[in-house]
Amino acid sequence: MQTPRASGGPHEDIAPPKTATFSRVDTFSASHRTACKSLTDAENKKLFGPCNQKHGHNYKVVVSIIGEIDPISGMVIDLMDLKAYLQEAITKPLDKKDLDEDVPYFANVVSTTENIAMFIWENLQKYLSPNKLHKIKLYESETVSVTYKGGAPLAFAAGDQHELPE
Ligand code: NI
Repeated sequence: MQTPRASGGPHEDIAPPKTATFSRVDTFSASHRTACKSLTDAENKKLFGPCNQKHGHNYKVVVSIIGEIDPISGMVIDLMDLKAYLQEAITKPLDKKDLDEDVPYFANVVSTTENIAMFIWENLQKYLSPNKLHKIKLYESETVSVTYKGGAPLAFAAGDQHELPE
């Protein structure tokens, strides 16, 4: 949405820009079988248990964008732009797919929820300006989810929700 620039409030030139996190939820359905190619069938069965069998999930993903609230539009990101990016980065490559067979990324990468979250993160980065993507929260079920924020080392990644015990 473009609107003409108003001739400013009293603090327009001195107030620091405000930041906010904007989130959108998307869903996709996919099948997979968690298996590592460098392990034997028996080792995979032992490591992944029932997930080593082909099965499906109705995934839910919450994509969070961080940025300054544009003083004109009042938005962090244009919702319709974000919707289009999610379509390209999530729906097209993943929805109704067999992750291990249909998505080249998972040819040699185990299709765990952690790695799917990383795939979505890397794919979305292609459409966003640097430092805009804040967090991916991927639910494989109502009770299991993975949060991915770019994979920084633990010492740097911990902290915004809770401290690690000593
Ligand atoms: Ni699974």
